[in-house]
Amino acid sequence: MAVDLLLGLQWGDEGKGKIVDVLTKDYDIIARFQGGPNAGHTLEFDGIKHVLRTIPSGIFHKTAMNVIGNGVVIDPVVFVKELEGLDQFDIDYKAKLIISRKAHLILPTHRLLDAASEASKGKAKIGSTLKGIGPTYMDKTGRNGIRVGDLELSDWKTKYRNLADKHEAMISFYNVDIQYDLQEMETEFFESVTRLKELTFIDSEEYLNQAIKAGKTILAEGAQGSLLDIDFGTYPFVTSSNTTAAGACTGLGIAPNKVKDVYGIFKAYTTRVGSGPFPTELFDEVGAEMAEVGREFGAVTGRPRRCGWLDLVALKYTCEVNGVTQLNMMKGDVLSGFDTLKVCTAYTYKGETITHLPYNIEPENVNPVYTEFPCWKEDLTKMRNVDQFPKELNDYIDFLEKELEIPIKIVSVGPDRTQTILR
Ligand code: IMP
Repeated sequence: MAVDLLLGLQWGDEGKGKIVDVLTKDYDIIARFQGGPNAGHTLEFDGIKHVLRTIPSGIFHKTAMNVIGNGVVIDPVVFVKELEGLDQFDIDYKAKLIISRKAHLILPTHRLLDAASEASKGKAKIGSTLKGIGPTYMDKTGRNGIRVGDLELSDWKTKYRNLADKHEAMISFYNVDIQYDLQEMETEFFESVTRLKELTFIDSEEYLNQAIKAGKTILAEGAQGSLLDIDFGTYPFVTSSNTTAAGACTGLGIAPNKVKDVYGIFKAYTTRVGSGPFPTELFDEVGAEMAEVGREFGAVTGRPRRCGWLDLVALKYTCEVNGVTQLNMMKGDVLSGFDTLKVCTAYTYKGETITHLPYNIEPENVNPVYTEFPCWKEDLTKMRNVDQFPKELNDYIDFLEKELEIPIKIVSVGPDRTQTILR
């Protein structure tokens, strides 16, 4: 079996980009299977920091092929800017990047619809990245969407116009104050589509299954996190795709029995951007310190991330839903020097203590129950092997492994490739 999955187990921003980048040397193909430019996968190496949005994180490796699968939604405008960002690295992306014909396109009016929908929701807004993700997936399931493969057909512009006109009518129905110049947006869109068409479009499910037959190794790279999954996340405060393991099968056309390892990535604490419940959120100076030391600002929107303690109730749930076989713990270095660490091991819910994630985790329904630990004081960022780990860190890791019943194989102690310790 040749396919491994790499997934974020919290609300996104766990550091998946860095781990894919570290692991890519072991794989022939890296494939994105869901989401779109709402993702921001940050990679740091050789003193350079780079953020990828739709392009798989294997693009920086010499030999890996990078596939954008059918489950992904692509905004040609953002995509072309992303390609231009790669030019400084002298990457032959025309040879190393291929796109599924079945991936859906984000149109300018999808972005406008996202803005109109959020504006109409007032306080109930999702906190969307406003990249048009939700409206594009709505058109996909509504069977109205435009796919990459349509760009090879002669009538796609007619289809485009019909859909964009319908979107404009929907925008006016929302009756909110959105300023835009659609003509200008469309000029940029059509120019970007021309650039996009210079890349190779493929039937990616066929390509990937042939690769599996030929014994090639594939890493499927998730975007966002499991708690943002459209089915299993904190609905309605979620994204519009399946960010969990099953999404890799539908988003790439790979059968479940081809999947071997599922790498689950989590931070040593928890963060969330956008709205929605977050039981272990901190509103005090400890949370503010996590945000500052951890540089917790969204890679896509620049919004400050909400911070809180690690939530093992939620983490156990996402390990289960995904069938995680090994864990990677990120950003342990951020906690160095804290007085104590807390880990949520249960919730009180309707007067009872529970250890599973209930249907509703709004603050008025659940209260976290914490186990406390002494924190390590040492700077972890210079450490390069486990023998250098302080006792308190080892105790923390041992506790998590025992609770989750899954080994923690990688501990990341900083953003650079070299700050990655194998256990
Ligand atoms: P959307 O996917 O842009 O519609 O946003 C829906 C929710 O998912 C919002 O709360 C966003 O902040 C969140 N979200 C989307 N993409 C990411 C991501 O890559 N990292 C973290 N949160 C995200």
